[in-house]
Amino acid sequence: MADYKSRLSFYADEFNAYAEAQTESLLSKEPSSFGSELMVEAMKYSLITSGKRIRPALCLEFCRLCSGDYRQAMPLALAVETVHTYSLIHDDLPCMDDDDYRRGKLSSHKKFGYANALLAGDALLTLAFEIIASCDLDDGKKVRAAKILSSAAGYRGMVAGQVMDLRNESVKADLECVELTDELKTGEMIRASGLLGCAAAGEYGEKADAAESFCGKIGLAFQIVDDILDVEGSSEELGKAVGSDEKNDKSTYVSLLGVEKAKALALSLTDDAVKALDVFGSEADFLRELAYGLVERKK
Ligand code: IPE
Ligand code: IPE
Ligand code: MG
Ligand code: MG
Ligand code: MG
Repeated sequence: MADYKSRLSFYADEFNAYAEAQTESLLSKEPSSFGSELMVEAMKYSLITSGKRIRPALCLEFCRLCSGDYRQAMPLALAVETVHTYSLIHDDLPCMDDDDYRRGKLSSHKKFGYANALLAGDALLTLAFEIIASCDLDDGKKVRAAKILSSAAGYRGMVAGQVMDLRNESVKADLECVELTDELKTGEMIRASGLLGCAAAGEYGEKADAAESFCGKIGLAFQIVDDILDVEGSSEELGKAVGSDEKNDKSTYVSLLGVEKAKALALSLTDDAVKALDVFGSEADFLRELAYGLVERKK
């Protein structure tokens, strides 16, 4: 078995170096104004951080598993992390979860004010598509990537999940509703991460289907574990407040099933997810270990 923690930190380090260099060059080429300078500061504040970089790692690894060089997928890994970062900024706003800490520091709106945080999120979302459009992949791959990312992030994907998530505060949701909420708000972006890696390698067939199935299932498990950590975790380790779901009276797997049953469900979804990796044989051992590691994670 591959040592998943060392490969995960390898990918995170490579990704962080790339993200820093790319944002430096992309964000400095525009003529500067007070507005663009403030936005660059706010975008970097949230993006160039201690995030776990799970979505980039999935993107890079699926590119490798589909016979690509993981470096080919770097722009798509950056695009998905940029959209994820925007979703976190907006998720923390007072009109949404109203949380003051993120990735070990003050949330964007606490640091830059509500309106500037909203705009930094908008700017990161837009930047993701600039990154895709201006990268070195061929045009067919770029169009495919833009399609995958926009549909996962948009009104049928993550945004729809966030709408449902907010409604689950005022209306008590059942398990079916929470499942769909979590598949959309979190599963979609994780599913897109794997598919983007496949797209960078030019893989649209059986292996892309396997990536989609694996990532979709671990994506749902990822949100269940996030909800468990919101009850059992430590804010120091997580870098964000705990108790956010209870504060907002949100229906989650944990509020509906309790911690133990929710954990068992995350584990059984992971068992199911790794079956989709059979097509890759032992080459996918890193992903098998990662999937179980994410269930056990403390942050
Ligand atoms: C947090 O995502 C939001 C959820 C979808 C649960 P992560 O737990 O991946 O956060 P970072 O990227 O490591 O900060
Ligand atoms: C967030 O879910 C999902 C997103 C689309 C950002 P949560 O609201 O549970 O994420 P955290 O706990 O704030 O990171
Ligand atoms: Mg939320
Ligand atoms: Mg939140
Ligand atoms: Mg949470």
